[in-house]
Amino acid sequence: MSAVLGPRAAAMRLTSASLRPSTARLSLRLPLPLTPRRYKSGPYGYTQAKALVFSHYGEPSDVLHLHQHSISPSLPPGAVLVRTLAAPVNPSDVNTVQGTYAAKPTFTTLLGTPAPSAVPGNEGCFEVVALGPGVAETGTLARGDWVIPSTTGFGTFRTHALVDNATKSLLRVCDAASRAGLTPAQVATVSVNPCSAYRMLRDYVDLIAQSVAAFAARPDTTGGGAWFLQNGANSGVGRAAIQLGALWGLRSINVIRERDTPAATAALRDELLALGATVVVTEAEFLNREFAASTLKSLTRDGRDPIMLGLNCVGGKSAAGVVRCLAPKGTMVTYGGMSRQSFPFPTGPQIFKRLRFEGFWLSEWSKENPAEKRRTIEEILGLIKLGKFKEAPVEEVRWEWDTEEKVLKEAVQGTLQGFRSGKGLFVFGET
Ligand SMILES: NC(=O)c1ccc[n+]([C@@H]2O[C@H](COP(=O)([O-])OP(=O)(O)OC[C@H]3O[C@@H](n4cnc5c(N)ncnc54)[C@H](OP(=O)(O)O)[C@@H]3O)[C@@H](O)[C@H]2O)c1
Repeated sequence: MSAVLGPRAAAMRLTSASLRPSTARLSLRLPLPLTPRRYKSGPYGYTQAKALVFSHYGEPSDVLHLHQHSISPSLPPGAVLVRTLAAPVNPSDVNTVQGTYAAKPTFTTLLGTPAPSAVPGNEGCFEVVALGPGVAETGTLARGDWVIPSTTGFGTFRTHALVDNATKSLLRVCDAASRAGLTPAQVATVSVNPCSAYRMLRDYVDLIAQSVAAFAARPDTTGGGAWFLQNGANSGVGRAAIQLGALWGLRSINVIRERDTPAATAALRDELLALGATVVVTEAEFLNREFAASTLKSLTRDGRDPIMLGLNCVGGKSAAGVVRCLAPKGTMVTYGGMSRQSFPFPTGPQIFKRLRFEGFWLSEWSKENPAEKRRTIEEILGLIKLGKFKEAPVEEVRWEWDTEEKVLKEAVQGTLQGFRSGKGLFVFGET
């Protein structure tokens, strides 16, 4: 990009136009201290970029294509050029490609695809590499900043993006000087799962006030704070809820799926306990009648420490189990349906336990509460920097300039397969 290359490098860029991509890349690589910088330039300063695109709905392995395009060095007023450092593949990204997600992408020909297309991916960490006219003057974005999309639907499975209305479309996380303690993977995964867990623990039931009241009533006990119960506890959201809950003095009952072997299940249980979970049970244990009849009674001191909040990631029988465990006037917040099964809203408990059923959708919450979203993200990033919050494990998929389309498509397709050691995370190298 001419904006960041000196005259010599610009000349190299022009002569590199006819070279194979890998040769051009070698001749243009420049060292920088914090993150390796990449220059993939075509003639006249056009940035060469690649994006996974789809033009119709279907399974990712069938409908995604790797599309190469060029981005002009003359940026429009208010726009910035960013390069992607990391982008996770969340379940909703797959559902978006399948056409089953509530938010539908806009299909356009802006990237020069033969048919109108969209780029999947909602989360990512980007570095600002060039500013269009008027952006520097706002003082909100500068070259070298790490940024994340301010809303969902950004399209993050791409090496670069030209971002219009940049000061609104992007949230600045840090500048080049204040990145210490943060990695691209942490920044790329902060805005959806941790933010959802945070809001669901805080916005439906005041568990902290409940804890304070309980301590005031019996200051002599060391029982712990208010309970919440969640299924899908090993998900990114579940792990975030465990950690935030523990930081806020809450106790959690966490339901996980059994692994292939008892040893693997025990290892997962230990991992979640180490994160701050109070109790971890398998789905089989949770759905066994003995759990509600005995274990739950003892954990809640026969209902005197009631479970007022249940978080439902799974649906089906597991959700019905959460309903069974809620105390009168308790609330269940549904935010995912990983089992793809719905669950009955049982009439008796609704009436006689006066239960409340809520749905949480971060996309809409973020539109309604932009300032609070920014504050929530900043708080979580602060916890990460202090070493008090750990990002969920990921399976890194390196995205280099020469990475084959098949590898990238499979990384997206694999997201819903379950029993993974972590969710897929594109980590961008030489692109
Ligand atoms: N509503 C919102 O605003 C919002 C925000 C964030 C996430 N979500 C939703 O929350 C869910 C989790 O997202 P994530 O990114 O945290 O997921 P993730 O980290 O990719 O983890 C997926 C989780 O789903 C579990 N799972 C997969 N198939 C399952 C099945 N058939 N039955 C029971 N559990 C199953 C997995 O269990 P194992 O660990 O046993 O493999 C894993 O714990 C998704 O449905 C996502 O769309 C919603």
